[in-house]
Amino acid sequence: MAADVARRPRIEVLADEAVVGARVADLIAEAVQRRPHLVLGLASGSTPGPAYRELIRRASAGRLDMSRTTVFLLDEYVGLPHDHPGSYHATIRRELTDAVGIPDDAVHGPDVHGGDAAASCRAYEAAIEAAGGIDVQLLGIGRNGHIAFNEPGTPFEATTHVATLTETTRRDNARFFDSIDDVPSCALTQGPATILRARRLLLVATGAAKGPAVAAALEGPISPDCPASIVRRHPDAVAVLDAEVARQLGRDTLRSVSTDR
Ligand code: F6R
Repeated sequence: MAADVARRPRIEVLADEAVVGARVADLIAEAVQRRPHLVLGLASGSTPGPAYRELIRRASAGRLDMSRTTVFLLDEYVGLPHDHPGSYHATIRRELTDAVGIPDDAVHGPDVHGGDAAASCRAYEAAIEAAGGIDVQLLGIGRNGHIAFNEPGTPFEATTHVATLTETTRRDNARFFDSIDDVPSCALTQGPATILRARRLLLVATGAAKGPAVAAALEGPISPDCPASIVRRHPDAVAVLDAEVARQLGRDTLRSVSTDR
């Protein structure tokens, strides 16, 4: 059993973010082809951009039909108007779903506009369950090891909840806003327990700055101190990394890696 846990996740190392994006698009497209009514969990931020652009290219060329896919966002800022370009709902529509023909009413995020955050969190969990659960969950990783907005210290048992963003995360995300003062300090986020229930996890990381966080997640203790380490508790997790990230992993981690793409 210990050996089995140590083998997780399956790790793929590819040359750069363009090839990583194409591979992630392949994995999502294969899942959509197997199950047109796929329930897909999506991350925002920079990392998934190349994969989203590749999915758009394939859909525009008539090679991929995502019109029956349902989307659940990992997280949403609290305090931004619904149509604010920095909101994750607006971001996902702009960067993927509108262009691949996923209707807006099939794109779900935690409701950050109701007055009762706890009720919104419970409703989001219920909506995911009513959709049959998430089939494939795409994950980026923060430099501090966060996944979704689960910052270090978040209990693994947490489901969708209100998260306070760390200063590191707010600074990292300031590039999507006019200034750091505009970055919200709270979000509603799927919790580690929500994420672990997805049938498959795709953890994607590119660029040297993510190396230490990925090393902590894959080689350090499985602990809330590094929220992304929870992927090692999942029976079907794939980490798709570029060479700059992989360079910072130990030889033992890389022994079973697939690089044949
Ligand atoms: C966004 C999200 C975050 C990002 C992470 C990495 O929905 O869940 O956990 O995946 O902050 O962000 P990027 O990709 O911008 O480096």
